[in-house]
Amino acid sequence: MLFSRSLTASLLCLAPLVQANPDAVIIGGQLLDVRSGKLLTNQAVLVEQQHVHSIVPLHQLTAEQQELPRIDLSGYTLLPGLIDMHVHLTANPAAHGYRRLQQTPIRQALFGVTAAAATLDAGFTTVRNLGAAGYADVELREAINAGELPGPRMRVSGPTLCMTGGHCDNNLLPHTYQARATGVANGADEIRSQVRSNMKYGADVIKFTATGGVLSRNTDVNASQYSLAEMQALVAEAHDRGAKVAAHAHGLQGIKRALQAGVDSIEHASFIDDEALALAKKQGTYLVMDIYVSDYILQEGEAAGILAESLAKERTVGQLQRQNFSKAVKAGVKLAYGTDAGVYTHGLNGRQLQYMVQWGMTPLEAIQSATLHAAELLHWRNEQGQLNVGVLEPGAFADIIAVKGDPLKQISLLQQIPVVIKGGEPVKGL
Ligand code: ARG
Repeated sequence: MLFSRSLTASLLCLAPLVQANPDAVIIGGQLLDVRSGKLLTNQAVLVEQQHVHSIVPLHQLTAEQQELPRIDLSGYTLLPGLIDMHVHLTANPAAHGYRRLQQTPIRQALFGVTAAAATLDAGFTTVRNLGAAGYADVELREAINAGELPGPRMRVSGPTLCMTGGHCDNNLLPHTYQARATGVANGADEIRSQVRSNMKYGADVIKFTATGGVLSRNTDVNASQYSLAEMQALVAEAHDRGAKVAAHAHGLQGIKRALQAGVDSIEHASFIDDEALALAKKQGTYLVMDIYVSDYILQEGEAAGILAESLAKERTVGQLQRQNFSKAVKAGVKLAYGTDAGVYTHGLNGRQLQYMVQWGMTPLEAIQSATLHAAELLHWRNEQGQLNVGVLEPGAFADIIAVKGDPLKQISLLQQIPVVIKGGEPVKGL
C-alpha cells in the first residue's frame, strides 16, 4: 500500500516530463531543413507547449492531429526564426558620439522596447546582445521572457569588459569628470572579478574588447587591448562559469591574441590574415563579421552624431573587412551571423544576408550562418542536449518564419518577412 502510494506520487511528479500530445499544427507548403539544405514539401510542424514536437509529411497526420488548431501556411516556405549574434537593442542608432552621453541606462532600456519589437518583426526570433550599460539588456530579456513585451529571445552580456581607455570605456570627457564605464577592469584579478559581477547580475555570455574600435573616441583599431595573460584570465573565468566569450577585434594582433586565449568568437575580425584564419579554423573559433554596417556608418554617420575620427577609421575597416570575409568563406572558417544592429537601424537585421552572398557565400550558407551555426555558437541547449533555437527539430522552440518563394534562389526574400511565429504563437502576418 505504502509502496504503491509513493509510486503513484512519483508517477504524478513525473507526469509533466512525459511527452504530452501536440496542441497545434503549422502547415508549410515547403520547409527548409537548414542542416541538409533540402526543401521539403507539404510538411506539418506539430507544436507542443511552444516547442516543436515533431515534423511529419502532411499526409501522415493522424485523424486526431487533423483536428488540432492549425496555422495554414501552405502557400509559404517555412524556416527557423533567424538569429542575430551581435546586436545592441538598447542602443539608438540616431544617438552616437556625444549624444549618447544624454542617454541613461533607463532611457536606453525604454528605447530597447521598440528595438526589440522591430527586431522580432523582422523575423529575428533570437538575438545575442553584446554590450549594454547598466544591465539594461538583462532587464529587457526578463521583461520579454515574462511576456510583458514583444521581442526576440535574448542572450545577453551585460556591460562589455575592457581596459581603462579601451573601446568599452567612456573616453568622451576630460579627466575632471572621472567617467569610467562599468565594464572597465585591468589585470587578471579585476577582470575575473568583473566577469563574476556580470554573471551575478544576469549575463549569459561575456564580451570584451581586444582592440580599439571604430566608434569610440581616441582608440586605435590596430592597437591591442589587454595582454595575452589578461585575456586568458578572462576566458578561464568565463568558461568556469559556463559562459562563452565574444571578443571584439579589428586589428590583427588583437585577433591573434584572442584566438590564442581561446575565445569562442571573434567579432568584426576586420584585419584577419591567412594565418589567423587557419588558426580559427583549426580551433573551431567562430567569426562574426558585420559586413553591412559600414554602409550605414558612412552614409548616415555624421547626421547620427558619429565622430569625424570614427568615419575616417571606418573608411579603412569596412572595405578590408569585406575582402577578408570572402577569404574566410573560402577558407571554410565557421561564420555566425551578426550585424551590430543598434549602430544602424533595428529591424534591418536581414539586410546583411544579401551582402554575405555578394561577398562569397551561397544563399544556403548565409541562412545557415543565421540559424544553425549561430545556434551552435550560442550553445543554448535543452536538458536533452537539443538546440533550443536555429533549427526546426524536436525540442527546439517553435520559432518559425515564412516567406513566399524560395530563399535559396532569392536571398532578398529574408529582408521582408511576412509571417513570424514565436513559440508556436503568431506574432506577425496571421
Ligand atoms: N562597434 C564597432 C566599432 O565601433 C562598429 C564597427 C563597424 N564597422 C565595420 N566595418 N564592421 O568598432
